Amino acid sequence: DIPSLQDVFADDFLVGTAFSNSELYKDPDKELMIKHFNSVTPGNVLKWDSTEPEEGVFDFVESDKAVQFAVDNGMQLRGHTLVWHNQTPNWVFYDDNGNLASKELLYQRMKTHIDTVMKRYKGKIYAWDVVNEVIDTSQSDGLRRSLWYQIAGEEYIEKAFEYAHEADPDAKLFINDYNTHESAKSQALYNLIQRLQAKGVPIDGVGHQTHISLYYPTMTEIENSIIKFKQLGLETHITELDISVYQNDSQKYDTFPEDLKQKQATLYKQLFDIFKRHKDTVTNVTVWGKDDGNTWLRTFPVTRNNWPLLFDENLQSKPAYWAIIDQPAIP
Ligand code: G3I
Repeated sequence: DIPSLQDVFADDFLVGTAFSNSELYKDPDKELMIKHFNSVTPGNVLKWDSTEPEEGVFDFVESDKAVQFAVDNGMQLRGHTLVWHNQTPNWVFYDDNGNLASKELLYQRMKTHIDTVMKRYKGKIYAWDVVNEVIDTSQSDGLRRSLWYQIAGEEYIEKAFEYAHEADPDAKLFINDYNTHESAKSQALYNLIQRLQAKGVPIDGVGHQTHISLYYPTMTEIENSIIKFKQLGLETHITELDISVYQNDSQKYDTFPEDLKQKQATLYKQLFDIFKRHKDTVTNVTVWGKDDGNTWLRTFPVTRNNWPLLFDENLQSKPAYWAIIDQPAIP
């Protein structure tokens, strides 16, 4: 019987995984999650298109199942996500005449959505990704020109946090993004958070998605970006960790090359060492899926094999798993 990740890191941080509800119908998948993880993040079912597909018509069938799984097994839950530009129905942004919604209408819809979803899971979801992927470093103000932004400007981010805090004052509120270990992006995110804090916006933490590859970013960049946000007094969650084995979109392997397996294991080990060194701020480390059979990276950016996670598609522990727990692999 192999060591449980949540036990190994019990003195450091919560160890989490994203999951889809289909995994709940397979006992081996379910058991693996229960054994290793004390935090879970539903991968899709808490997103807007899933919980409120039509205005005012909420559908909690799938999200209730996901939340109940965590509650039944004493796991913490991260809520992902309230305000995003993807997986959000179009009606959110348009009025009855098909014109872009007014700011007032947009805020009214945002408030209703945040209020309804957060209150339903109050006391069960301990941390929420309130806004997701709002940064775009190609813009002078560093903000993505999503429909949220086009209608309301930077202010929509403040409103999202305010409504979230009103809906559940006990939930930890996060701003979540990818490529946050790169200096330009991390600086843009840092600047935004400073502006929000100056206005008294209730924000508790920064979520680094940490979708990385064997080739970039460097461990130094990752460590520096974690240290950087400590200065803002925020908590840090690693929210969507995986390590793709590819350097570019055109590469393809039939099987996972042995040398890359070792390379990936070494990187995972170095990463977890960094997280441990900064456990004063890093309180949750979540992988974006538990096994290589359940990864978004097999369909994005192209359909191909990829092996980014800690367990293989047969739910067997990989070298990366043994590396992070710092033990020789049991054959
Ligand atoms: O639900 C439909 C199903 O009815 C249909 O038969 C099937 C056919 O393609 O599609 C299903 O929807 C898919 C959905 O996942 C649920 O499996 C969508 O096509 C697919 O695009 C969607 O992908 C999700 C992706 O976000 C889309 O934005 C991934 O599962 C999910 O892991 C991924 O997660 C994101 C985070 O939210 C934010 N950060 C990046 C991360 C990876 O892209």
